Amino acid sequence: MNHLKERIAAELLAVRDRSLAYTEAEDDVLTRQHSALMSPLVWDLAHVGNYEELWVLREAGGITPLRPEIDDIYDAFKHPRRDRPSLPILGPAEARRYISGVRGRVLDVLDALDLESPDPLHRSGFVFGLVIQHEHQHDETMLATLQLSGRPGLVRDGDLPSGSPGGAAEVYVPAGPFTMGTGTHPWAYDNERPAHQVELPAYWIDRFPVGNAAYIAFVEDGGYGDPRWWSPEGLRWLRESGATAPLFWTREGGTWWRTRFGRTEPVPPDEPVQHVCWYEADAYARWAGKRLPTEAEWEKACGWDPRAGRARAYPWGDEPPGPERANLGHRAARPAPLGAYPAGASAYGAEQMIGDVWEWTGSWFHPYPGFRSFPYREYSEVFFGREYRVLRGGSWAADPAAVRTTFRNWDYPIRRQIFTGFRCARPAPES
Ligand code: AVJ
Ligand code: FE
Repeated sequence: MNHLKERIAAELLAVRDRSLAYTEAEDDVLTRQHSALMSPLVWDLAHVGNYEELWVLREAGGITPLRPEIDDIYDAFKHPRRDRPSLPILGPAEARRYISGVRGRVLDVLDALDLESPDPLHRSGFVFGLVIQHEHQHDETMLATLQLSGRPGLVRDGDLPSGSPGGAAEVYVPAGPFTMGTGTHPWAYDNERPAHQVELPAYWIDRFPVGNAAYIAFVEDGGYGDPRWWSPEGLRWLRESGATAPLFWTREGGTWWRTRFGRTEPVPPDEPVQHVCWYEADAYARWAGKRLPTEAEWEKACGWDPRAGRARAYPWGDEPPGPERANLGHRAARPAPLGAYPAGASAYGAEQMIGDVWEWTGSWFHPYPGFRSFPYREYSEVFFGREYRVLRGGSWAADPAAVRTTFRNWDYPIRRQIFTGFRCARPAPES
């Protein structure tokens, strides 16, 4: 088999191992709804198989539906997450059987695929990139569900490098144009395209995501009680939620504690803060005398190589992420300390932009100029507008296959169960 096809086959296996590992729990854990924000885990499991059937078997392979009667149940648009427990969804054993039945025929389609086909769904294995990234995204969602459930067993104390964030706290990005988005990445989503020039004034951006120690300083300075730092919508969220600290944090005996996957431990001061919503990020930035970076500022600081005059796939270059450059792929179930990845720095010197925590940006999720929906409107297009904020960079729970400098994620500004933090920026005074 050809090299790309071998890689696709390996990625398919790896992502399925991951989904199966997250759904090893007892049936009751899989079928219960742990939070109205999330689907039952067994819905996600069959949904990724149904998506694979729809796109690889039917669209790319021309194979007739295996179980057409279940399509409706697994259509995310027909049923919001809160309603999914009341659907006649497949039970755990049946879901596993169904997805492995789909997978059994997928390798035949891969075998027959023409990687040079003029059909953009087939070319470079795009449709496989679509289902592999989709499954990884749902795996991350399943992890968020498991974290909400309080179920132990997902902390992997894999080795993460230690670090110290000595040196400059911010990096300078001079004024000038850069290329945003991609026209060349074969598995990029429609929302990352087309590549286009963006001209930005000079700015400073934090060299690291905001850490827990700095965030605690905001909390202990009375940040959650001071309306000066909050937007009007943020104040409304604050009143309604009654939040006084990031999600999963408690204060006891003079110490801040966090609970992750059923384990309660002191909040590590040197890790990026996570489980904050957009309003909290926005308030912190105002308290710090800064603001959130726009999406364009984030992407330029992450991926632009001013010397070469071109964008990189990753902050450090085009080589794929390894464990010495970024914390991805659920190695330890936590972000790494600030300063842990000097080898992952961008051309401008910004660190930990890829991995650790998703980063809120100040931007709404809008299409790039010249956007064209592909291969279906419901991946990106229906979410455009002033409802969702853009997140960048990927978290410790994201897989390298689903992260790159141009990758765009989005969510409601109130969401905190996702593995999300942020960094700040500020305009550079005229020089
Ligand atoms: C890109 C993560 C916002 O989970 O809602 C999953 C990805 N799209 N199934 C989501 C997605 C269809 C999407 N996000
Ligand atoms: Fe989905």
